[in-house]
Amino acid sequence: MKAISYARFGPPEVLEIGERPEPTPARGEVRVRVHAAALNPKDVLLRKGKMRWLPAGSLPRIPGYDFAGTLLDSAPGLPTGSEVFGMIQRNGGGASAEVARVPVGELAAKPSGLSMAEAAALPLAGLTALQALRDELGVTPGQRVLLNGASGGVGTLAVQIAKALGTEVVAVCSGRNAALVRELGADRVIDYTSEDPTAERGLDHVFDIYGNLPWPRAKAMLHSRGRYCTTVPQPGAIVRGALRRAGLHRAALVVVRSKRADLERLSRWVTHGALRPVVDRTLPWTDAVAAHEYLETRRARGKVVLTFDH
Ligand SMILES: NC(=O)c1ccc[n+]([C@@H]2O[C@H](COP(=O)([O-])OP(=O)(O)OC[C@H]3O[C@@H](n4cnc5c(N)ncnc54)[C@H](OP(=O)(O)O)[C@@H]3O)[C@@H](O)[C@H]2O)c1
Repeated sequence: MKAISYARFGPPEVLEIGERPEPTPARGEVRVRVHAAALNPKDVLLRKGKMRWLPAGSLPRIPGYDFAGTLLDSAPGLPTGSEVFGMIQRNGGGASAEVARVPVGELAAKPSGLSMAEAAALPLAGLTALQALRDELGVTPGQRVLLNGASGGVGTLAVQIAKALGTEVVAVCSGRNAALVRELGADRVIDYTSEDPTAERGLDHVFDIYGNLPWPRAKAMLHSRGRYCTTVPQPGAIVRGALRRAGLHRAALVVVRSKRADLERLSRWVTHGALRPVVDRTLPWTDAVAAHEYLETRRARGKVVLTFDH
């Protein structure tokens, strides 16, 4: 099958565009013919060898967590041939290929109103935003939430999900993306190139998506019971996140989990017109090196997606 893979850690050029054997599904897994696969910063970090502490299997490795495509086997409630989307939880990935093996709990019916590329753009980033806002922060309608890094893959979905959950959104991004995040529903935009976001006070929640607003700097932005969540698993954030789960801290760390019920939650918002993935660019799978290079600039507006033609 056509696949993107790497046999050594390094820059985007280590990616090989070629043929790999089709995967054999394990018990509880199905095969998906992948039409589109979105990239995430985790793909970049693993390819660079920066997360070697994660159990991700041996090399060569096929990257990719997000996919949209058609089922080659049947899954509960989803017959063979169904259009599906989802996120592979295992660190080894495998979505950047013509065929991926996916546990049945990590996919759901593709929202019918989305293209394959749009559907592939939704899972990892959308689940992260949903699980941070709903589960880690516990936002409730009427609360004021600051989203730092509102114009990227997670941010563009977090703005819309925070609005769908009834909150008032203060979005932080550079000026060139202010109109985009306002269009997505942000009530106020802070251009971090001309205004200091840490001057905000009295917030109910701060969600540091980009990763440059750690708890020690963010806590003054919150009122005395306000909560914080980060995406970056730095040692301090891991300790605080564990304390938060025990009810002993206000700072959480989101660690995204792939769950069919949450994919279906995202899908319902899409159907009701409350959520639409923002795709910065769609490239053919043969342009994987350029796609990884672009993601590495940390300037993508929304998601970068690879497509496979069948
Ligand atoms: N823990 C988890 O489970 C989990 C899950 C998903 C993602 N993550 C992590 O979350 C982070 C964000 O992921 P992502 O997919 O959203 O990344 P991304 O799409 O690569 O983010 C790109 C965005 O970052 C913004 N940005 C760049 N510099 C910024 C700054 N100084 N302040 C605020 N925003 C800035 C850019 O906006 P401008 O051009 O407007 O500055 C751009 O739109 C990554 O570190 C990723 O590894 C963690």
